[in-house]
Amino acid sequence: MAIPRRFTIAESSHRILDPFTPAKVADLGNALGLRPDMSMLDLACGKGETLCQWARAHEITGTGVDINPPFVAAAVARAAQLGVAHQVTFIEADATGYVSDEPVDVVSCMGATWIGGGPIGTLELLARSLKPGGIALIGDCYWREVPTIPEAIRGSFAQSVEDFPTLWGLIEAVQHAGWDLVEMVHADEHSWDRYVAAQWFNIRRFIDAHPEDEMVPELRAELDTAAGQYVRYQRRYLGWGAFAFMKR
Ligand SMILES: C[S@@+](CC[C@H](N)C(=O)[O-])C[C@H]1O[C@@H](n2cnc3c(N)ncnc32)[C@H](O)[C@@H]1O
Repeated sequence: MAIPRRFTIAESSHRILDPFTPAKVADLGNALGLRPDMSMLDLACGKGETLCQWARAHEITGTGVDINPPFVAAAVARAAQLGVAHQVTFIEADATGYVSDEPVDVVSCMGATWIGGGPIGTLELLARSLKPGGIALIGDCYWREVPTIPEAIRGSFAQSVEDFPTLWGLIEAVQHAGWDLVEMVHADEHSWDRYVAAQWFNIRRFIDAHPEDEMVPELRAELDTAAGQYVRYQRRYLGWGAFAFMKR
């Protein structure tokens, strides 16, 4: 499965490919109480920033898996840059069904719960790599406010209101599936802006630098509408959080 080139372009300047800032990644690592003897598997790890940051700050070891070759290359380079290349490994692979050879303390999937068909299926996948008593971490979208008009639904990356749960709906469903919610950190408007608005700049720079590229009409159309969709709908309606669960 090839990841659309649009993401490589729009997220070219991003290290974190979700609506978290480095400060929120740090908050989450501290909240999880990571220690040097802990190991982690990060499925759909993107450019590996979370794993590299936590390897540096908490001296954990870990493996990241992502399907997009440019992101894996960026993760390997980032590990070298932060001096943690001896602690982390990055693998180019489909994370769907990926299970580690050795069970680990933390298994995560931030911003890609489609690899397990949604949050519950993804937690079941993560559980297969987890030590007893380990932490399963997912990052996912939810409705901050459930939209009632079609423009707001479509403008929030959704086809229908059922595409995302409410915050309580998400937590309740996972608890019902046998997990305890033990920690959470949420995106806010500032951290969403860092993720989304930075993509507009990347797209504009790409269009200016490569006016003949075949992607330009598509990117031009996106740039024409993206800010409006974001400030009218996504910024108001869409939430994103990282949720740490332990099996009951
Ligand atoms: C929203 S980004 C999140 C990346 C990273 N977890 C982060 O938070 O910075 C989604 C990531 O999922 C990866 N991805 C999508 N489908 C995948 C699959 N089947 N297996 C592995 N990675 C996948 C993409 O390449 C991308 O890096």
